[in-house]
Amino acid sequence: MGRVARVFITRSFAFDALDRLRAEHEVDIWDHDTPPPPQALRERAQQADALLTMITERVDAELFDAAPSVKAVANLAVGTDNIDLEEAARRGIKVGNTPGVLTDATADIAFALLLGIARRLSEGEREVRKGRWAPWHPTHMVGGDLAGATLGIVGWGRIGQAMARRGEGFGMEVIHSSRSSGIPLDELLERADYVSLHTPLTPETRHLMGAPQFKRMKRTAYLINTARGGVVDQAALREALVRGEIAGAGLDVTDPEPLPPDDPLLTAPNLLVMPHVGSATFRTRARMADMAVDNLLAALAGRDMPHPAS
Ligand code: GLV
Repeated sequence: MGRVARVFITRSFAFDALDRLRAEHEVDIWDHDTPPPPQALRERAQQADALLTMITERVDAELFDAAPSVKAVANLAVGTDNIDLEEAARRGIKVGNTPGVLTDATADIAFALLLGIARRLSEGEREVRKGRWAPWHPTHMVGGDLAGATLGIVGWGRIGQAMARRGEGFGMEVIHSSRSSGIPLDELLERADYVSLHTPLTPETRHLMGAPQFKRMKRTAYLINTARGGVVDQAALREALVRGEIAGAGLDVTDPEPLPPDDPLLTAPNLLVMPHVGSATFRTRARMADMAVDNLLAALAGRDMPHPAS
C-alpha cells in the first residue's frame, strides 16, 4: 500500500513494537482489559486497513463483510483457530501469526503443570494457607514420579518437541503421536503416565480427548493441556476425574475461556488450572508483538508477511 494506513489493535500493550507501528501508520487501540464485543469489533474494523488481533477475537466472514477495507490481520498468537483462514485467503486478506518465539515459554508452562499436578503444588499451598498443615506422615500428599515415567506427547510440532526435551531432562521416557509420525494415539494413551497435548485446534482435533480416550489412560496417569480447550471434551474430563479414571489434570486452556467460576469442571478433584498464560513471559510477549508488527508493516507496504499463518 505504501501510504499511511489505519490499524485497529484489540488491546493496548506497552511494547516497543507499537512505536514502530505508530511511526508509519495511524493506530486505533481498544483501550480496555476485556476484548471488544463483536459489534464494537466490527465498527472499529470498518475504519481500519489492518487488524492486530488476540485469540479472543473471532475473525470470520461476518467481520470481513462488515469491514471490507481490512486487507491484513496479524494475530498475537501462534494459534489461529480464532481466524477463518480459508475465508481470508478467498478474499486475498493476509494473515500472520507468531510461531517459534513462544515455544519455550509454552513448554515451560506445560512442564510446570505436569510437576504441579503430579506433586500437588496448589493443593499443598492451600493446606498451608488454610492452617491445615498436617505433621509429617509417610503417605501425606504423595504424588506421581517423573524419573522413569513415560511422557506421551500428542502433536509433534515445535512445542511438543520442546516438552519432550524437558521430559528427557527429568529422566522420562518420551513417546509421541502425531498425524505424520510416532505411534497410534490409543497406544500412547495406554502406555503414558503423563499425556501432554500439543496439537492445534482443528475440526479433526476437536474433542480428540473424550470419554473413550480417558478410559484408555492408566488410572495413575495425568493429562496436561496447553494447546486449546476444545481439544478436550471437558464434560468427559470432569467425569474421568470424578470417577478416578485418571489421576489428575493440569490445564492452561479451557473451553470457554475465561472459565466461569461455577463451571462444573472446577468441582472435579485433582485439577490444576491456569488462565491461559503459556506465552506470558516478558521477553516472549515482546517478541510476539514484534512479529505481529513486522507482519503488519510488510503487508501494509504491499509485501508478503514474514510470518504468514499457513
Ligand atoms: C496462545 O495460545 C497462542 O496460540 O499463541
